[in-house]
Amino acid sequence: TGHTTLDYGFVNTSATKSAVTFIDGDKGILRYRGYPIEQLAQNSSYLEVAWLLLYGELPTVDELGQFDERIRRHTLLHEDLKRFFPALPHTAHPMSVLSSAVSALSTYYENQSDPHNPEHVELNTVRMLAKLPVIAAYAHKKSVGQAFLYPDNSLSFVDNFLKLNFGVLSEVYEVNPVMSRALERLLILHEDHEQNASTSTVRLVGSTGANQFSSISAGINALYGPLHGGANEAVLEMLGRIRDSGESVQRFVERVKNKEDGVKLMGFGHRVYKNYDPRAKLVKESADEVLEALGISDPLLDLAKELEQIALEDDYFKERRLYPNVDFYTGVIYKAMGFPTRMFTVLFAIGRLPGWLAQWREAINDPQTKIGRPQQLYTGAPARDYPGLSS
Ligand code: CMC
Repeated sequence: TGHTTLDYGFVNTSATKSAVTFIDGDKGILRYRGYPIEQLAQNSSYLEVAWLLLYGELPTVDELGQFDERIRRHTLLHEDLKRFFPALPHTAHPMSVLSSAVSALSTYYENQSDPHNPEHVELNTVRMLAKLPVIAAYAHKKSVGQAFLYPDNSLSFVDNFLKLNFGVLSEVYEVNPVMSRALERLLILHEDHEQNASTSTVRLVGSTGANQFSSISAGINALYGPLHGGANEAVLEMLGRIRDSGESVQRFVERVKNKEDGVKLMGFGHRVYKNYDPRAKLVKESADEVLEALGISDPLLDLAKELEQIALEDDYFKERRLYPNVDFYTGVIYKAMGFPTRMFTVLFAIGRLPGWLAQWREAINDPQTKIGRPQQLYTGAPARDYPGLSS
């Protein structure tokens, strides 16, 4: 039509205003509602940051207590929904299980899912924050063939999640405080990241008037891809392949640079960061601390460090300003905690949920929001008359 701009991948196009998260990609700065990520990761909790993202300010002690209490009261899944899991093959990828179950969750609340009813929105926000970890843990339990546990609402959000994943029916589960704090920090680091692919998906689906469950389920599916959240799983697979093949790290990097078979250095590069991803810096510190505290030494961590060092000194990566991103070191920590590789992106989804919910709300409450509907430049056949089928 002559007046549209072609922008593959939305490299130059802002689709919205937003007051949630600030990123300066050149300087490597990330802030939620103005607070530096480093300070939040150090001092705060997952639910405290969730509140901050949702409501714009930090909660008071009382507000946080009530929020936490409300979430604990909503952790149970309907028993019928639990029967959903056995219907899927035991080989099912937990990300597909997660998005399907979140979609299915909406069927239980069809009369309470009006995006423009603030009470419904509050309720479903709490429901999703409470139930996503339970669904995630059941997807994990299913994949290892173990019985589902009921949530233990005497435990904090993160401890409850650890117990649901690693507890077994016949034994008392002792939460390891090192693991608990480390997981809390990782979840905080993932809570929001402005208009990334999954958040933009949540906003786009939300812009049609679809309910919160449908919008979040779509976000989970967008996160699944290896260029987005799926990268944490892909990093560990890449490290494992390098180790098993006996190929030198230098040789692997050469193959990446030559773009042989389209191979990429997973966990490197970012659309916005052209400097060290501030989250990756914190995750790298955590990896050393956690593995040491858990008494684990993992050759894959040494391999990752070697890979990072070689890449950072190489002209290919320097010229393109490719640095480790958040996904580069997380997998090593999740592995040390005992999570199977296929659960890594599910952990990312739990982390990102508050951001999705906050951004969905921001869009719903913004009077300027319209249905998302990109333009195209048509490159197909010109007008022609239908000739009938040829024989
Ligand atoms: N390994 C090798 N080359 C790379 C990489 C990489 N990881 N990332 C970018 N490049 C090259 C790319 O081939 C291109 O080179 P050339 O100019 O010769 O064609 C140049 O760097 C610019 O890259 P781009 O693909 O135009 O950048 P983008 O902004 O479209 O893509 C990205 C960003 C994150 C998808 C990409 O860097 C990538 O595929 N990284 C690997 C996957 C990954 O780690 N994703 C996680 C992202 S962070 C958090 C999250 O969302 O999970």
